[in-house]
Amino acid sequence: MSDPMRPPASQPRPHTAAPRPEPSRSRAALRTAVVWDVLQDALDRRVKATGRQTLDVLDTGGGSGNFAVPVAGLGHRVTVVDPSPNALFALERRAAEAGVADRVRGVQGDARGLFDVVERGGYDAVLCHGVLEYVDDPAEGVRNVVAALRADGVLSRLAAGLGGAVLARALAGHFTEARQALDDPDGRWGTGDPVPRRFTAEQLTGLVEAAGLRVGAVHGVRVFADLVPGGLVDTEPGAMDALLKLEAAAAELAAFHSVATQLHVLGETPGTDGV
Ligand SMILES: C[S@@+](CC[C@H](N)C(=O)[O-])C[C@H]1O[C@@H](n2cnc3c(N)ncnc32)[C@H](O)[C@@H]1O
Repeated sequence: MSDPMRPPASQPRPHTAAPRPEPSRSRAALRTAVVWDVLQDALDRRVKATGRQTLDVLDTGGGSGNFAVPVAGLGHRVTVVDPSPNALFALERRAAEAGVADRVRGVQGDARGLFDVVERGGYDAVLCHGVLEYVDDPAEGVRNVVAALRADGVLSRLAAGLGGAVLARALAGHFTEARQALDDPDGRWGTGDPVPRRFTAEQLTGLVEAAGLRVGAVHGVRVFADLVPGGLVDTEPGAMDALLKLEAAAAELAAFHSVATQLHVLGETPGTDGV
C-alpha cells in the first residue's frame, strides 16, 4: 500500500507500470492507506478512460492537503476549496515543500457556495473527505459536489461511521455514551462529541445514489486501528505491516463496515462505465 503522507516526487509519476511504494510504518499511513489505495486506483482508471495523464481534481474541504498534495504528486491538477484560511495557508506551504505548488490551487469557500468559487461540471474527480459531517444539509452537500463532476467522473467520499464510534465508546467503558450514539439520529455520543454527525454505510450510499451516482465501492476505514493499543503496533516487529494488511482485507467486507471508524464510498457518474 502506498502512503499519502510520503512526500510525492516533484515530477509526476507515470500512470502505468509504476511500482507502488512499500507500506509505510507510520500511523498516518494506517489512517489513510485504504482510502489512498482506492482513490489512486480510481484516478488511474480515469486516466486510462479519458486518455489524459492530467486530471482535474476538486478537493472540497481539503484542509491542509492530506490528500490534495499527494494527488498532485501523481501529476493531477488539484483545486482545494476550504473555508479555513489557516488550512489554506498550511496547504500552500505543504504543496511548496512537496514541489507541487504549480498543480495545487487553494480557494476559500464552502460546500454550500461551491459554485461561487469553482466551475460546475468541471472536474474528473471530486474528493469530499471528512466534510459532510460538518455541513447543515449533507444531501445538499453531496448534490453540490456531484454537480462539480464532468459527465464522466468519480466521487470519493469519506465520512465518520456510526458503528465505529459506538464500539470505541463501549470499549473505553463509556457505555451510556455508546448507547446515546446508537440512539441519536446524528450518531453523537453526547454534547462533548466533537463530530456533529456520523453515518451508516446505508445512509452514505443512499445519499450518493440520491445525487445521481452509482456506488462503485464501499470500504470500511480504520476497522481495528483505533482499537489497538498504540504501543503494541509501534513496538512489535512487523505488527504495523500486518495491521495494514488486515485493515485492507477487512475494508472490503460488508460485515466490517458496521464497525469501521470511517466509511469510504466511491461514486461514479452513470457515464463512467465502471471506470
Ligand atoms: C476533518 S477536516 C478534513 C480535511 C481533509 N479533507 C482530510 O481528509 O484530511 C474537515 C475540513 O472541512 C472543512 N470544512 C468545514 N466545514 C466545511 C464546509 N461547510 N464546506 C467545506 N469545507 C468545510 C474544514 O475547514 C476542514 O479543513
